[in-house]
Amino acid sequence: MTDYVRKQVRQFLKDKSKREARIKYKGPKMNAAYQWYRLRNPVRMLFTAAIVEITRKLPPCEFKNHLLRMIGVKIGKDVTICPDVIIDWLFPDLIEIDDGALIGAGAIIASHSILIDEFRLGRVKIGKQVMMASWVANEPPTTIGDRAIIGLFTYINKDVPADSFVVGIPMQVKKDMKGLGYLKEFNQGLKRAR
Ligand SMILES: CC(C)(COP(=O)(O)OP(=O)(O)OC[C@H]1O[C@@H](n2cnc3c(N)ncnc32)[C@H](O)[C@@H]1OP(=O)(O)O)[C@@H](O)C(=O)NCCC(=O)NCCS
Repeated sequence: MTDYVRKQVRQFLKDKSKREARIKYKGPKMNAAYQWYRLRNPVRMLFTAAIVEITRKLPPCEFKNHLLRMIGVKIGKDVTICPDVIIDWLFPDLIEIDDGALIGAGAIIASHSILIDEFRLGRVKIGKQVMMASWVANEPPTTIGDRAIIGLFTYINKDVPADSFVVGIPMQVKKDMKGLGYLKEFNQGLKRAR
């Protein structure tokens, strides 16, 4: 008989229309995290953890992006992932990083969180040319709109609008850059150069 936790995880992974899943933990341990292995096959987890640890030590490069694609992260072109970025070990396949995004050192990109009595999974989408500064963390599900800027040490606990500058714990929109033409000239230059 399939474990009810594993069954709900599989359903969520299949149903791309759902952004998040909350699965109640009914024991027998005193906290759900003790039984994290009910979410995913532990052997798979060891493999993804090893890849994440290797990529943490690498400078930004295409090889690193390829390693992360191998464990299911969807990564576009010209994406820069700095050292020490922690990609979710359990559900890297729920993370999508679009073209031209820059992820600063020490950022944590989470697609699951576990409470005492609940497992939570959420899809993470980082838009085009997003600039995520160092030591940013998120609570899934998370959608970061194109060209958003996330300041150092920000805690992203809700969606970030496109063309906005957000900072703080928890995050607040510091500046709305819509209509300011942020990156417009830069991107036109890119087109000319190609
Ligand atoms: C996002 C960033 C580039 C903004 O720098 P900037 O354009 O020079 O902006 P400023 O420092 O003038 O800040 C603008 C406002 O936002 C505030 N602010 C900037 N970063 C902030 C942060 N992390 N948390 C809280 N407030 C912040 C400033 O206090 C200022 O507020 P004020 O206008 O009320 O005085 C910078 O904060 C940052 O995060 N740099 C790190 C880049 C990085 O990690 N890159 C990764 C690859 S190396």
